Amino acid sequence: SRPKVCVVGASNIDLISYVPRLPALGETLHGSTFRTGFGGKGANQAVMAAKLGADVVMVGKLGTDDFGDRTLANFRELGIDTSQVSRSDEAATGVAPIMVAPDGSNAIVIVTGANDLLDADDIAAARPSFRESGVVICQLEIPVGVTLAALRAARDEGTRTILNPAPAREDLAPELLGSCDLLCPNQSEAALLAGHPVDTVSQAANAARELLARGPGAVLITLGGDGCVVADEGGVDQIPGVTVEAVDSTGAGDAFVGALGYYLARGDELRSAASWANRIAALSVTAPGTQTSYPERVELPPDMLASLA
Ligand code: RIB
Ligand code: NA
Repeated sequence: SRPKVCVVGASNIDLISYVPRLPALGETLHGSTFRTGFGGKGANQAVMAAKLGADVVMVGKLGTDDFGDRTLANFRELGIDTSQVSRSDEAATGVAPIMVAPDGSNAIVIVTGANDLLDADDIAAARPSFRESGVVICQLEIPVGVTLAALRAARDEGTRTILNPAPAREDLAPELLGSCDLLCPNQSEAALLAGHPVDTVSQAANAARELLARGPGAVLITLGGDGCVVADEGGVDQIPGVTVEAVDSTGAGDAFVGALGYYLARGDELRSAASWANRIAALSVTAPGTQTSYPERVELPPDMLASLA
């Protein structure tokens, strides 16, 4: 049977401008191209897991506007279960104005809107989905208290939990780290949590060890082209990455987390899942857009496709 993944988090419409460089304060620049796309960290992770072949339940909140209609239609087209996606007329569907520079780097503003209205009742209603899933994945684009409630409810239901503490925020309750089985930050999020720079692999290894002592079952810090560092009771290891020609790194972290969720839900060991997820995230960096850059099964190299069969 197919791996089962449940994602609790935000959906946004990404409003992406490709620019010659990121503008300075007060400056007006000409962009070359504009695209809209489906985004939001939760939605992106759900879509990546679904594209690999997971049965995915999305838990989220949309506005009753056109962006909400389009987001719902996108989930359905990808076969994602939307029974736990509710709508509110009290806020607009989330949006994310994004600028992407020629080297693939970006700057993002998020206007969370309806995502902020996801609440404890929505989490209570999603419990049966938590119970039936192999993993439950959360981020920090919805209220932190709701993420904490989701992690606790999933644990109560006996399901493994992944917390991707993104976007980085300082106001984190210490209980959050102790409420997940796998904490999965990128370098800047890890630096904020650890309170020291995470610019090198050895700094990442130290941060992973320190964060592990704060309660999660395991810690995985993503390092872009350097892959990732994993810390758990088995020790601390670097899982090498893949170097690619970057076109657009938007959503690469979400491709990683969604893929990781897929491989863990199907029963892979953490280090093996991380190694596959490194390759999926690298592929996403070579194509423009967020979800549009996530590979379909047929686009995967033969060995990756064979491993999914
Ligand atoms: O992680 C990338 C995502 O961050 C984008 O899709 C954007 O919506 C923001 O949430
Ligand atoms: Na991309």
